[in-house]
Amino acid sequence: MTESPSLKSALQTRVTDLLGSPYPILQTGMGWVAKPELVAGACNAGAFGFLAAATIPPNEVEAEILAVKRLTQKPFGVNFLMDAPGADVIAEAIIRQGVRAAGYNRAPNAGLITKLKDAGVVCVPTCGAVKHAVKAEKLGADIIIVQGGEGGGHTGSVPTSLLTSAAADAVEVPIVAAGGFRDGRGLVAALAFGAEGIAMGTRFLMTRESPVPDATLQRYIDAQVPDVILSTALDGLPQRMIANELIRELEHGSPLRKLLMAIRNAFILRRETGATISELIRSGFAMRRNQKLSNAQMILAANAPILARIAMSDGNPARGYLPSGTVAGVIDDRPSCDALISRIVSEAEQTLTRLCA
Ligand SMILES: Cc1cc2nc3c(=O)[nH]c(=O)nc-3n(C[C@H](O)[C@H](O)[C@H](O)COP(=O)(O)O)c2cc1C
Repeated sequence: MTESPSLKSALQTRVTDLLGSPYPILQTGMGWVAKPELVAGACNAGAFGFLAAATIPPNEVEAEILAVKRLTQKPFGVNFLMDAPGADVIAEAIIRQGVRAAGYNRAPNAGLITKLKDAGVVCVPTCGAVKHAVKAEKLGADIIIVQGGEGGGHTGSVPTSLLTSAAADAVEVPIVAAGGFRDGRGLVAALAFGAEGIAMGTRFLMTRESPVPDATLQRYIDAQVPDVILSTALDGLPQRMIANELIRELEHGSPLRKLLMAIRNAFILRRETGATISELIRSGFAMRRNQKLSNAQMILAANAPILARIAMSDGNPARGYLPSGTVAGVIDDRPSCDALISRIVSEAEQTLTRLCA
């Protein structure tokens, strides 16, 4: 990719300086999806990738970090849940392995953030509201990703276009815009809104390096904008996803059926993460406190990770959960990360040239 010096400098921001990536494009931590192949693919293409550690047993995270290192020499990050059992084990692995950045969202833990920062790890929380971004900055964030309502998975209600500029005005640290990005025009728009980069989940899910099985990926390719809905059926919190057979049943299902499903998924989560019952209960109460959840929502919390695995790993898109940004409705290809990043950067360059002409 060749750029004129001025266009190149428009794409060099505090985010590229802090993260050490050529372009201000981040690949977000997506459970079961942001695995070593995708993270390395994104980084080798010039973006900055986050390994999703929330769906890996904590004592296996270090091996996955090493797997990323075998596939790329570039810096990358690890995204994890600071209030989940084993968060300290993951933070130690991040520090020991010299990982460039740590991503987190709900329940930032001041002690863990200090520990990471003292070790030189760049702290990159994701927030869905301006007041959370202000709090995240006070807790030590170096870069803040703000995810607008168009974004996939758990999401807020403020559109990306409104959230980005408001957050950029409210904090000093660089903002990265997330929710609805897929191309170079979006990157330039985000820069115009005051962001210093974009973060994409769904667009990276739909790449060659994404581990998502073909049957599940086809649902993303086929989805139109109205098929990507916001539902609280999984755990009582708003989540953006592609509507499927499971969600339609859950939206009309009895509370008892939902409860039985949640209990079964809590046991599967326990088996798969190696967490003890008491750790899960403590983590459940921490979530309840931090996210102001009801008892019913707390009990349903295991649904999202386990149901996502059924779609994203097991390849059963009818019975699993399909977290997705609205942007899936306008994406119908599966390029390599390299082709994707080249395309975004050259489109951003052309857009900047056109605007500056
Ligand atoms: C399949 C999928 C899985 C996700 N899993 C997680 C996760 O485990 N933890 C998290 O913090 N965010 C998760 N997210 C949210 C993304 O990290 C990101 O913030 C969001 O996808 C950005 O919006 P976009 O999809 O419009 O690009 C997920 C999103 C998707 C699409």
